[in-house]
Amino acid sequence: MNKKFISLMMTLALTVSVTTVAFAEKSTSTCDNKSCLVHATKKSNEIIKAQNVLLNRVNEKRVYEDVVKLSSDIGPRVSTTDEEHQGALYIKSQFDKLGYKAEIQEFDVMGRSVSKVTYNGQTLTSNAFSGAGATKINAEIVDCGLGYASDFEGKDLSGKIALIERGTITFVEKVSNATKAGAAAVVMYNNTDAGVTPGQQYSKDVSAVGITRADGLVLKEALKEGSVVLSVEVGEPPVNKSWNVVATMKPSTNGNKKDKNDSQDIVCVTAHMDSVPLAPGANDNASGSAAMIEIARSMKGLDIDKELRFIACGSEEVGLLGSEAYVDSLSDNEKHRIIANFNMDMVATGYDPCNELAVYTNNGSENTVTEAMKNAGKKLSCLTTDSVSYDGTYDGEMGSSDHVSFENAGIASALFINVDSKLKDNPRSAIEPYYHKPEDNITNFSSERLVRTVKLVGIALYDTLNAK
Ligand code: BES
Ligand code: ZN
Repeated sequence: MNKKFISLMMTLALTVSVTTVAFAEKSTSTCDNKSCLVHATKKSNEIIKAQNVLLNRVNEKRVYEDVVKLSSDIGPRVSTTDEEHQGALYIKSQFDKLGYKAEIQEFDVMGRSVSKVTYNGQTLTSNAFSGAGATKINAEIVDCGLGYASDFEGKDLSGKIALIERGTITFVEKVSNATKAGAAAVVMYNNTDAGVTPGQQYSKDVSAVGITRADGLVLKEALKEGSVVLSVEVGEPPVNKSWNVVATMKPSTNGNKKDKNDSQDIVCVTAHMDSVPLAPGANDNASGSAAMIEIARSMKGLDIDKELRFIACGSEEVGLLGSEAYVDSLSDNEKHRIIANFNMDMVATGYDPCNELAVYTNNGSENTVTEAMKNAGKKLSCLTTDSVSYDGTYDGEMGSSDHVSFENAGIASALFINVDSKLKDNPRSAIEPYYHKPEDNITNFSSERLVRTVKLVGIALYDTLNAK
């Protein structure tokens, strides 16, 4: 029996009767009966029936239009800019059209402060890192090399300023290592002669500033002669606004909303909508945003046992700030009720080798979400006759996106992302070459892969929403 025939039979059987499905036991090896119809109960048949509705509704042209709107019409949606806000309003308008209860959640993002670095009575050219808080310090500097954790070993940094060279590891890692070593401030000199590069930090405990390579080398030389004192001043950072969009679907039976109560489980779907400067972010992450909207469209009106929340997150690219703000805004009761987070980020690249939708968790352990994905992969082999392959197997450890904020709150979470399957053990090396570049645009985007993501995550999500 071929796959197409089985699928047709299943659809017919489900239309005619929701109780007898014994024929499915004869299916081929591509169709794993356990995840489909054997041992089917009335409930599981209803689930499959709804999932067929969901799959049939997924519309490739519609998701493509969402990605065009976000990445080409609006363009780069950098944290706290008007374009990010326009992205939020567009996504909200799509949820509104569907009748979901959608709202914009505004949150604060600290901007870049003004800095002043003085050495021997002279003011050096400097630039405060974004995320650096206010400070005023007059202290000795300590040469900390490139700022690896090992560069701080055996050094007394308390009350002192760490002098670090830019390069090889990220700004964020260097500042974090200096913070752990107890430094009072960080001064980072450039590794090229291209002036002062604006750096980034997440830890708020220590303020970092950038200076030129030439000035850094002068300080390094001076250290050879004895102690060097520097004055570092960072002003109060300006407070800017960024946005999340939160849309909710309450549980329902036979189309009727269940009584509102605050004991029901909640399942969250997330995707960040912002991008980095100059990158239209068609794949990173208009793709995830569009997939989320299309799942919402395809699920409209279907019965679910749990509450479903869609969160389009702002300011992911500057430190997962939107998802952090969302999780911080939850009551303890809500945090306990959220049982899963499905996070889609870069789910429709047109780069040929990145043909797999990989599944990662931040802590490297499997959970409810990864289990649901595995079953969805098998189930889809039965439910569709599509030519694309569905996988859904668990692939290991990867953070760097909004699922981290949920996991930090103790919630089972996973990241879905397109990778080159041959390289997926090292996710950073397995993604498209357009990452964070102007080439991450609509011409390098695949709506076929977007549809596959919607189907795979949609099925796993629907199963999770209706699991015991
Ligand atoms: N989509 C990326 C995350 C990503 C990159 C996952 C490469 C897998 C491989 C995300 O939008 C991003 O760029 N995140 C930031 C991290 C954040 C904490 C600023 C990153 O990885 O630099
Ligand atoms: Zn991303």
